[in-house]
Amino acid sequence: MKKINEVVTLLLLLSVLVTGCGSSVVNGKKDNAGEGNDAGKTITVGFSQLGAESDWRNTNTQSMLDAFDGDGYTLIYKNGQQKQSNQITAIRMFIQQEVDYIVLAPATETGWDSVLSEAKEAGIPVIIVDRRVDVADKNLYSCWVGSDFELEGRKVAAWIKAYTEGQGIDPSDLHIVNIQGSLGSTAQLGRTRGLANAARENGWEILAEESGDFTETKGREVMTSLLKRYDNINIVYCENDNEAIGAIDAIESAGKKVGSDIKHGEIMVVSFDAVNEQAIQYAREGKISCIAECNPLHGPRVKALIETIEAGGTPEKFNYVDERIFSSVPDVNVIIVDGITYTVDAPPETQSAADASSSG
Ligand code: AHR
Repeated sequence: MKKINEVVTLLLLLSVLVTGCGSSVVNGKKDNAGEGNDAGKTITVGFSQLGAESDWRNTNTQSMLDAFDGDGYTLIYKNGQQKQSNQITAIRMFIQQEVDYIVLAPATETGWDSVLSEAKEAGIPVIIVDRRVDVADKNLYSCWVGSDFELEGRKVAAWIKAYTEGQGIDPSDLHIVNIQGSLGSTAQLGRTRGLANAARENGWEILAEESGDFTETKGREVMTSLLKRYDNINIVYCENDNEAIGAIDAIESAGKKVGSDIKHGEIMVVSFDAVNEQAIQYAREGKISCIAECNPLHGPRVKALIETIEAGGTPEKFNYVDERIFSSVPDVNVIIVDGITYTVDAPPETQSAADASSSG
């Protein structure tokens, strides 16, 4: 009997070992657990994405899904549909599910203190991606990775300054409208600040600031109404490419010409992202005069941060991504912001070319 018991115990032990090192369900697929994580365990990540408002956002979501597809990870993805309340519900669900990490791409900066305290109490590390959270206690999250949105805005403003000075245009002759992103988001706050400060310093006129919510539809709608209110707009600062596409459509539908020749009545459009293929094409054609890159490929970066934590390390709190600036207008080759020189590159030939050279 003792012998039989020993054999059964051995078999049970073997089956546990085999299951532990063998296949597990990762993102709905069979995968060999243990390949990506030394401990051979599956790490569950709850990802609260804010929405699907733009091409940038969809590329960012895909980057996360790809990075955590297999390799010992399970990603639970929740789309917040542009509502912070949905994101808070998703985080609470992740806490209940006892995920190993929570990744949050927040819609707005404020309003996260309570739910992030709940995650901290549950002992779940939180990684913030893309936009920032404004919380009283910075220890409520482990780290953040994303863009310097104000720098992006300052780069575009520096390009406008260099270009218009080169053309001999008086600063007081610049009449700008700002189609802002979703109000209260870091991308909107930073880009709006970048332009507003430059306008004040240089004596440019900002005729209006109105939100286009980072969408093509709102960009078109806002531009249509701005053209009815003002007849002297010569620069349209769109806080993302989708808005720019909508705004260009509105300008052309009103019978006006888009381009950099503002001395001869063209309306100049500048933008952010360089992700949408049509926007990149517009930049090549000169319909968008200048685009500051906003890099969406954060999946592998978030994964690297998790791996640092898994290995017992402490990642840097704030992790900024390097970004470029594009224009096909020949006159400005470099811009200088805060003493740093940035080369102005030709718009990439394709979106995948942009992705390939910006994945670092
Ligand atoms: O937070 C990043 C911004 O959000 C991107 O510039 C915009 O396209 C997106 O919706």
